[in-house]
Amino acid sequence: MNKRVDESVVVPVITIDGPGGSGKGTVSRRIAHQLGWHFLDSGALYRLVALATLKRQIDPSEESKISLIASQLEVEFKVDSGIGEPQILLEGTLVGDEIRSEQCGDSASKVAALPAVREALLQRQRDFRCSPGLVADGRDMGSVVFRHAELKIFLDASAEERAQRRYKQLKEKGMSANLAALLEEIQVRDARDRNRSVAPLAPADGAILVDSTTQGIDEVVAGILEKWFKLI
Ligand code: DC
Repeated sequence: MNKRVDESVVVPVITIDGPGGSGKGTVSRRIAHQLGWHFLDSGALYRLVALATLKRQIDPSEESKISLIASQLEVEFKVDSGIGEPQILLEGTLVGDEIRSEQCGDSASKVAALPAVREALLQRQRDFRCSPGLVADGRDMGSVVFRHAELKIFLDASAEERAQRRYKQLKEKGMSANLAALLEEIQVRDARDRNRSVAPLAPADGAILVDSTTQGIDEVVAGILEKWFKLI
């Protein structure tokens, strides 16, 4: 069936970019839930490409093979009405916490540095923009994918605070964790994401900087919603 799109109706987008552990995933999901909007977890797409690459034992430098995987990725996000993480199906199979592992995150950061992979995922991300609105979470949502977003946020937090949060999260899941190693991994991944040649992690033009180092999730969500309601 052809989807008829009324070009005159602008579907609003709020972009929330920032480094891993800044809280942008939780914040974005809550905002989407409160506004009754759609939600894009773009990092999950890069993690899924990384997972498929790891499963097929493809080296992260094989750009053409990996971009082919990215363009053919058969993925479905099953959204419920709550604020939990959506269920993700990769090639029809439910993907669990495996995409959230440090290994998959590290590999995602490597495949995300490949220009052809970013290009292959571009339209797929833009297709999430559906009425009544979209909250898009990532690294380049405001700078590349949704350059004309109505509201752009860059959510940051110190590397130490982000490592602490990750440590707590892993412990709560009953997984082993080492705080010093987590901090180092975060710093390496930040450096790779910030220094890559395409779509580096940086505040988009016009983005509002929000620092969550000393703010709780509720405070950050309330602050962003206030900014949105002031705009409309
Ligand atoms: O947000 P996350 O930790 O799930 O993202 C995993 C990796 O994917 C991260 O290291 C950088 C990359 N990424 C990206 O380059 N661009 C995005 N829009 C989202 C994530």
